[in-house]
Amino acid sequence: MTLLANYQVPRYLVDEALLHFDLDKSKTRVISTLKMRLNPESSAGECVLDGESLDLISIKLDGKLLSDSQYEVNSNSLTIADVPEQFELEIITEIHPDQNTALEGLYHSGRLLCTQCEAEGFRRITYYPDRPDVMTVFTVTIVADAKQWPVMLSNGNLEEQGQFNDGRHWVRWHDPHPKPSYLFALVAGDLYCQQDHFTTMNGRDVTLRIYVDPENKHKCDHALVSLKQSMKWDEEVYGREYDLDVFMIVAVNDFNMGAMENKGLNIFNAACVLATPETATDDDFYTIQSIVAHEYFHNWSGNRVTCRDWFQLSLKEGFTVMRDQSFSADLNSAAVQRIDDVNGLRSMQFAEDAGPMAHPVRPDSYIEISNFYTVTIYEKGAEVVRMIKTLVGDEGFRKGTDLYFHRHDGQAVTTDDFVKAIEDANSVDLSQFKRWYEQAGTPELSVKTHYDPVQQRFSLTLHQSCPATPGQENKLNFHIPVAVGLLDSDGNNMPMQLAEETTPYDGDTRVLSLTETEQTFEFIHVSEEPVASVLRGFSAPVKLKYDLTNKQLAFLMGHDTDSFNRWDAGQQLMINVLLEIVDDIQKQNTLALSPLLLSQLEAVLNDEQLDPALVAKMLTLPTENYLAAQMPVADVDGIHQAREFAKRQIAISLKPLFNARYESLSKKKKYQFNAEDMAARSLKNLCLSYLAATDDPLQMQRCLRQMKVTDNMTELLAGLRLMVDQAGPEREHALRAFYEQWKHDRQVVDKWLSVQAASKLPDTLLRVKALMKHEAFNIKNPNNVRALIGQFCRNNPVHFHAKDGSGYRFLAEQILVLDKLNPQVAARMLGALNSWRRYDVERQELMKASLEEIAAQKDLSADVYEIVTKYLA
Ligand code: ARG
Ligand code: ZN
Repeated sequence: MTLLANYQVPRYLVDEALLHFDLDKSKTRVISTLKMRLNPESSAGECVLDGESLDLISIKLDGKLLSDSQYEVNSNSLTIADVPEQFELEIITEIHPDQNTALEGLYHSGRLLCTQCEAEGFRRITYYPDRPDVMTVFTVTIVADAKQWPVMLSNGNLEEQGQFNDGRHWVRWHDPHPKPSYLFALVAGDLYCQQDHFTTMNGRDVTLRIYVDPENKHKCDHALVSLKQSMKWDEEVYGREYDLDVFMIVAVNDFNMGAMENKGLNIFNAACVLATPETATDDDFYTIQSIVAHEYFHNWSGNRVTCRDWFQLSLKEGFTVMRDQSFSADLNSAAVQRIDDVNGLRSMQFAEDAGPMAHPVRPDSYIEISNFYTVTIYEKGAEVVRMIKTLVGDEGFRKGTDLYFHRHDGQAVTTDDFVKAIEDANSVDLSQFKRWYEQAGTPELSVKTHYDPVQQRFSLTLHQSCPATPGQENKLNFHIPVAVGLLDSDGNNMPMQLAEETTPYDGDTRVLSLTETEQTFEFIHVSEEPVASVLRGFSAPVKLKYDLTNKQLAFLMGHDTDSFNRWDAGQQLMINVLLEIVDDIQKQNTLALSPLLLSQLEAVLNDEQLDPALVAKMLTLPTENYLAAQMPVADVDGIHQAREFAKRQIAISLKPLFNARYESLSKKKKYQFNAEDMAARSLKNLCLSYLAATDDPLQMQRCLRQMKVTDNMTELLAGLRLMVDQAGPEREHALRAFYEQWKHDRQVVDKWLSVQAASKLPDTLLRVKALMKHEAFNIKNPNNVRALIGQFCRNNPVHFHAKDGSGYRFLAEQILVLDKLNPQVAARMLGALNSWRRYDVERQELMKASLEEIAAQKDLSADVYEIVTKYLA
């Protein structure tokens, strides 16, 4: 276990690293020359370098070969007992990229070689002080066969290249910016390159290049546009300019995560960068735009200013997610962006925070750092930075980030340093606020109101508490920014003057700071009893306990001027209604759908003024997983039945409206990726999904027709998804035809796997198992695993949680296979059992048995070991 409390500065620093690679897919030789010296902040002692799965060939210290007795090697380090204050090491190692199925370090993917070094992959390339607070200038020489590896890339600028007589060629890259080893990258292969350029705010010309497998050369345009948008946005909004002559992106098929921000050479999971309208959905286009931005933004929030240690991971990830979220909000619909971000946070992060892996945004211990690339570090971390921005205002935040980048440029720092910069630039005290970094768990915010018609006063009492999490029994009060508005009976915003104020408040929403367990805020001159709209824009990542009646929720759903809260009131109303149906199912009562909800949905569907994207969001029922999280004991089958029932009732009752809107949105138009067209497609597909829920066989014909006439994957996949839930020859035909058309395209084939894994039909698990033997599936490819096994376990709750335990046994079996190949992917899959204690006793027993089966396995990876033991603890 690694502890934050044990942090010590590195003993030796690396001033310069010269790396020489003799590339070959089965045996690559690495010659590393390190100019090292004693850290003036430390004291002399042995020199310990990290290293794993390396064949050590030789070590020279200041030119002299070391004998076996002068160093010690074990499975994760190399120790040289005696070194001077300043010295040069030359270490030769050999590695085997084609045997590397963990996809960390240098590995072989398809026809290319590439690296993934974050967090601790560099130690699988050579012995090195592999920690982010050792920053070095890297010069990298790559030598390889020119035919097989025509393109050879690394960080920084290309300095020189040449040919040898024997068919090999070489390149030398130099990165002038000192960086930690986790930002090192190397790529080689026969890659197609699409080039563009960007002129920075100071007039410098930057060459932009996207490298892809030749068969994907038609899929680069969207990423390039997104990259230029990101570069411009970061200049305008944060004053950040790019700092090298070239910026490169490479797409690879085998990748554990989404993408990686290596300096000047971002490496992407192909699914997170490649797109054409025919092969990628609107969601894909949207996600790609945001991931390209995310990785680009890391150039400042992550690379120029990096993390001191991995406990500070959210320093770069939380901040960068917050930056990419505001980028997406600026370029698309801000309301839709916020709804999606909060939806994701509540369904994933709240579950993590309430489960056995709950950890603070700045954790204080870990066994395997790869397990801490979590929704808490990323998404909750982003919310924490967003709250800071809310507290100091847009301008204050910009002053703070300017100071942060200026003060810490070229340094490896902590989340405390980040907060300090904001404090110093704004003369504010965020010491209580910092508990958001230190305490895990989702705070609960309860709201009580009181109206005094005689005094015309309205009081709002806010109360906070936070449940215990593993290792943190008692929590201190958080500093919670609560954005509030008051609405009169016509839905107009009301004045918000507090009793202690002498002048009226100017604005419709005001942010109250809750810092104590309970505080009451008293508003004066309130002429009628208002409905309070609390936590507008989701101003803090808390669970709101505010007992509004369904009628009040319906009112907010129809009238709130804050579009997020309007949506949220609708969601809460749906949750109330759906949970009542679950209750009726449990009591075997006859089922009925609330007419109030129905009339609200009808009004939304009829509202031609409302952004169609918002209409679609407001008509989308909460997921089964999210509903499960709202029950003390999740009733898997009851929830599924209730949701299907409600969906069908809504569909039948509003069928003519769904019909009419579907038809009016079906005007043929060439695909374009923009907010307006995306909104239209999302509403059109939503209408189709309700129409399909009416059980009218004609609607299947409609799905087929949509699939036939469309020019884009968004509509094609929406049709297929609906067909896949209906047994029959049409379904099988549609699946077969889809596969035949797209089997050459990995991104599309993954969608084909996913829709089948998410099917409601009873034989889904059998089908998933059969698909694992299909030519389309390779268990070594993480995208395939996520598309098939991941979809089934995380997105198909009725089947994954089948009462006979078949879903759990299937998962356990796959995890044990995966753990031998790729521990990171295996550990991710375990996440499907995160909430296992929240189910009925029978299911808990079955899940526990599966967890114990995994735990009993010998030689588990640290990744799976950490999660399985924490789940069982
Ligand atoms: N820093 C990358 C990102 O943008 C994530 C890479 C993590 N990779 C890993 N193997 N843990 O968010
Ligand atoms: Zn990131």
